[in-house]
Amino acid sequence: MLISYSKQKIYNEDIKAVLDVIKKKKLTQGEITPVFENNLKKKVRAKYCAVVNSCTSALFLAYISLGLKKDDIVWTSPITFIASINPAIHLGAKVDFVDINEFDFNLDVNKLEKKLKNTKKKFLPKIITVVNFAGFSSDLKRIKNLSKKYNFKIIEDSCHSLGAEYLNSKVGSCNYSDINVFSFHAIKNITSGEGGALTCKSKKIFNMINLLRNHGIKKNSQKNYFFSYKSIIPGFNFRMTEFQAALGNSQLRKLDNFIKKRRKIAEYYKKNLNPDFVSIQDSKKSKSSYHLFVIRLRTTKLIKNRKKIFEYMKKRNILLGYHYIPVYKHLNLKKLYLDVTEQYHKDALTLPMHLNLNYFDCKKIITNLNEAIKKYC
Ligand SMILES: Cc1ncc(COP(=O)(O)O)c(C=O)c1O
Repeated sequence: MLISYSKQKIYNEDIKAVLDVIKKKKLTQGEITPVFENNLKKKVRAKYCAVVNSCTSALFLAYISLGLKKDDIVWTSPITFIASINPAIHLGAKVDFVDINEFDFNLDVNKLEKKLKNTKKKFLPKIITVVNFAGFSSDLKRIKNLSKKYNFKIIEDSCHSLGAEYLNSKVGSCNYSDINVFSFHAIKNITSGEGGALTCKSKKIFNMINLLRNHGIKKNSQKNYFFSYKSIIPGFNFRMTEFQAALGNSQLRKLDNFIKKRRKIAEYYKKNLNPDFVSIQDSKKSKSSYHLFVIRLRTTKLIKNRKKIFEYMKKRNILLGYHYIPVYKHLNLKKLYLDVTEQYHKDALTLPMHLNLNYFDCKKIITNLNEAIKKYC
């Protein structure tokens, strides 16, 4: 059987939770969505939480509620999925990138500081979208300090990092950001099929998000709804269905165990990979949720043979991945050459990481990978 780089794991109780909604309850705008929001909020120790139908929708709401407009500037890390910035582009914003660092493969804060210092005031970013890549938080405390000096807002894209920690806080708590977003896409750390969430500290932002996700409608609970609802800003239908919320909520109950298992797989990989040939993501400040397990090939010959290693593994029914093509290479966004990012683009691979893997799968992955390395080094 093919071992893919990622796959969801659905339990009987998850199916029961979904069926219960479909059979007996409201399909949308019912009582389960607020329960999921409340549980998620508690889990990541956030002040406010709103769930939506995808993280891309969450990012739309994040950018709009922070006031992003045409010709405003957004900076981000290039090693992310295009969805981190697509909503900003739709809003007419200009996007620029800061190189990643060699350790956690997140935005390099030293390079960010230098770029901020060297940028004319009118070209400074309104928002920096900080990606917590593969499960490791970026160094947000330092970025927050810079935000005070250079007056930008911070969105954390934590699609990979539900269950991760940074310093002494949970990713999603917004201790160092204005808005945080999560994804519950099928293969994320928990799933609702498709889905996303925003967390934030500000009531004003939360109210805006709530309005925007439901057509900008302000309800007047005192009066008959049909005669009294009023749309006060142009909004969207970004609502999550009740059966998605039921699945997300049922999965959320198991999050701690999910992360434990991901960390156990990561430990096994770390113990059995040869650091002479492969380097891995690391951070002193963040405890990863290991959504992805990224390796970087270290020798020139291995790097040249990356595709052959990929094919070698595929022939043995092990599908590796690669995350991500630097975002500035998409959409003709920018002619950039960021050193570490370009190097990463040549040497990174993603090993399988998901809850369906057992000890024998992990052993098979490592044995074959080490054989491939031996063959192509
Ligand atoms: C880093 C990152 N940001 C944003 C997204 C978009 O999430 P969604 O698929 O829930 O819209 C993804 C999805 O893979 C992602 O990996």
